[in-house]
Parts: sequence; C-alpha cells; structure tokens
Amino acid sequence: MSDQLIIFDTTLRDGEQSPGASMTRDEKLRIARQLERLKVDVIEAGFAASSNGDFEAVQLVANNIKDSTVCSLARANDRDISRAAQALKGARRARIHTFIATSALHMEKKLRMTPDEVYAQAQLAVRFARNLVSDVEFSPEDGYRSDPDFLCRVIEAVIKEGAGTINVPDTVGYAIPELYGEFIRSLRERIPNSDKAIWSVHCHNDLGMAVANSLAGVKIGGARQVECTINGLGERAGNCSLEEVVMAVKTRRDYFGLDMGIDTRHILAASRMVSQTTGFVVQPNKAVVGANAFAHASGIHQDGVLKARDTYEIMRAEDVGWSANKIVLGKLSGRNAFKQRLLELGVQLDSETEINAAFARFKELADRKSEIFDEDILALVSDESVSQAQEQFAFVSLSQHSETGERPQAAIVFTAAGREVSAKSEGNGPVDASLKAIESHVKSGAEMVLYSVNAISGSTESQGEVTVRLQNSGRVVNGTGADPDIVVASAKAYLSALNKLQSKADRVAAQG
Ligand code: KIV
Ligand code: ZN
Repeated sequence: MSDQLIIFDTTLRDGEQSPGASMTRDEKLRIARQLERLKVDVIEAGFAASSNGDFEAVQLVANNIKDSTVCSLARANDRDISRAAQALKGARRARIHTFIATSALHMEKKLRMTPDEVYAQAQLAVRFARNLVSDVEFSPEDGYRSDPDFLCRVIEAVIKEGAGTINVPDTVGYAIPELYGEFIRSLRERIPNSDKAIWSVHCHNDLGMAVANSLAGVKIGGARQVECTINGLGERAGNCSLEEVVMAVKTRRDYFGLDMGIDTRHILAASRMVSQTTGFVVQPNKAVVGANAFAHASGIHQDGVLKARDTYEIMRAEDVGWSANKIVLGKLSGRNAFKQRLLELGVQLDSETEINAAFARFKELADRKSEIFDEDILALVSDESVSQAQEQFAFVSLSQHSETGERPQAAIVFTAAGREVSAKSEGNGPVDASLKAIESHVKSGAEMVLYSVNAISGSTESQGEVTVRLQNSGRVVNGTGADPDIVVASAKAYLSALNKLQSKADRVAAQG
C-alpha cells in the first residue's frame, strides 16, 4: 500500500456550504491559489451544476490552477456530470466527484429510490463520467450509515466502471474513530477489487471527532486520501480541519508512517485568508492556527520553553507559518521590503497596480500605527478597498461624535459609482450611526445578520477587523474592513458588503 497521503481540500465546495460562507468567483480563485501554494493534491472548487455562479467559479479555478488537480462535485446524473466536465475543460488535471446517497434513510426519504435503482444509477454515473475524464471519484453519501452489504455491492460495481477513488463520507458526523476505521477496513477486505481504487475519508464534525475519525480511517482503515477544509469550515459543525489532520500526520510520522506533499509553512496564511473572506473567526485556542496555539502564558511553561523548546512544544510555530519575527515593517520600510514580506506571507498580488495600491495603504497605516505586524499586512491586502477602484461604493472619510448622555451622530463621505456622496445620521452608537448614514443614501433594504469586530493584533493600537454579513432577497454576502478606528473599519465593511450585493452575477450559490 502507498505511503503517500493525498490531501483533498473541499473548502471551496463543502466549506462554502456553511450558511453565510458563500464566496465570489474572485475570492474562490484567491483561496485556490493559496491552496496551490500549500501544495494540496486536489482542490474541490465547487459544484458546477448547482448554479451559473458556481459553474463559472469552477471554470475560473480550473483555468488558473496548474499544480493541483481541480475537482467538481456532481450528482450521479448525466446533466450534472456534463456540467462538471464542461467547467473543468481548462484544467491541467481534472477530477469529477460524483455521489449518490446509499443509506436506507436517504434512499427512501430523500431520493425515493429503491436500492436497485441507486445501484444502477451509481454505475451509469461513473461510466458516463469516465467517458469524459480519466479521474473519477465516487462517494456513497451517508456511506457510514449505509448497510455494509449494499455498500459493498455498489462500490464493487463503481470500481469496475473505473472510479479511481472511493470516498466513504460520514455525512452527518455520527462516527466514532475505531468504528469508522474498522468500517473502512472491512469494506476494503470484503470488496474483491478494492485494491484498484484509492480509499478516501470525508468526516463531518457534529460530535467534534472529524479529525480523529479521519485519522482512524487512515490508520485502521488504510485510507490514503483525506477530505478536509481550512479551519474546518463547513455546514453545521464543519468538516475535518486540514491544518489539524496534516499536522497530526506530520508531527506523528513515527505512528502514521505517511508522507504528504503539503508545504505546511503556508497553513497560517491560508487560515487567515479563509477566515477574512468568510467572516468565520478562528477561535484563539484552535489547534495550529488559533492566536494562542503557540503562546505560553504560564511561568513554568515559559521557563521550560526558554530552556528547551521541546519541553512544551511538539511542533515549530514557523513550520505552519507563524513568524518568529513579529514586528516586521514600519514607516521607513520601502516597497521592496513590503513586496518581500508579502511573498513570505504567501500573498500573491496579481499586478503592479495592486502592489502599488496595497503599498500606498501600508504607508498610510504606518503613519497612524507605529508597529506593523504580519496580521496588519494580511488584513491590509485582504481589505477589499485595495481593489475598490472598480467597485460601486468606496469609503472616503468619516467623522462621528459621541458623548455620554447624548445620541451619537456620524457624517460619512463615500463614492457611489464614482460620484462623491455625503450622508449623516444618528444611531444607538457611532457604528450604528455611520451605517445608518450609508443606508440613508443607498437604501439597500438589506438585513444585517452578523456584525463582528476582531482586534488583529494584541494591543489597543491594533487594527480592528470588522465583518458585516448582509442578507437581501435570499442572498447572503460578507464584507470585511480593517482600520485602527473601528467605526471606519465598520463603514468599510458595510460598503464592501453592499458592493457584493450589487454584483449579482458574481455571487456563487451554495449547494441546493
Ligand atoms: O458529506 C457528504 O456526504 C458530502 C458528499 C457530497 C461527499 O459532502
Ligand atoms: Zn460533506
């Protein structure tokens, strides 16, 4: 059996199914580029048949990503599979991932199909997909809760039709590590042609065991592909987290004995990019990528780490992208130093114009903030105002007044379609007043479903990073903004969300 573990990232498909996490095509491409830098083997870019937006996003990723295989999900029918193949046409390496539910519950209640019908449809789907691409993956949805005898029949048939990867999803996060591992091992033992396919695990985190279950699927079951998402993003409690599963296999190579192609130094930048894009904040005590993951607060621990790092550290922070050198740049830093730092942080800006715009913002920030941390730089380049030139709304300036016992007031200037607009309002607080001032002119009618402020680095001198999630006519969009003044950051985030609401064609619908 191979000692190589394939990392299949589904942040852009299963991760995006998380309510409120939908991404634009450009956001998907940006994350896909970071996943390519991370050297993930397979990027599941979306579900091409689910909407025109998702089709275009898969197509954009397929046309631009060269080093990773690009995959599209497809239900087990000709239309979905044809759409997936069409979207993947430009890919250097393309995979179609087709699925159909096999548990009695799903077949009866959801699909209203008999097991024999499901069996036949799975077979036909894989045959059809194999006529379009050579790399086909099959998933029996709700596989872990399926009857093992029936599952064996279906899997044997789809391997005969040429499915090269068999993925066994724990769709509802019901599995227990040993049981899931044994389940996969027994399928592999019972299915006569099981050695003709690579086995894959896909675990949801409803009971908090997605990573443990995936690792058991690898160790006990012999799976050689793990499906996972950055930050464990995904519906309900999310998916298996890429950073945790990868670092577990790497740190405990003595136990797993497996190699991966992943360049772990890009993990942190990927985590921040996904968090900033979706507005799903990473909890401070999250393994590997949380702000406290490598912080030693107690005196005993600090003393130990200073004497010998391995007293309390099982991984090196630098290996996952944390910089030992926290204060990186300042007011006197030049464009080259800035560009170099972006490279080290894994950020690729596409044109000199984008670099110049980001550098101008860096200089502006350095005038107001004496120490510029990596976190500030990442926020700065993810701040959509870098590319606001083409956007409908762009922030210009803001003033606000608040005093104990008085109702706060704000006056804002922003551009709408290139024309400068001024608006004023009162509100419950300065943020509320500022957003009401914007809304008094824009009249979007959107409902705010999330407002969150996060301090990017430790002190009160920190930039505030604000996420605003707006909902309008069934569409949910996230806007982010960063600034040392959180009222300004809030206004920028609101304008960025309004820009996304405006660009209707650009939205990607989650899986239906
Ligand atoms: O969780 C699941 O079952 C899935 C399949 C579509 C692979 O995401
Ligand atoms: Zn899933």
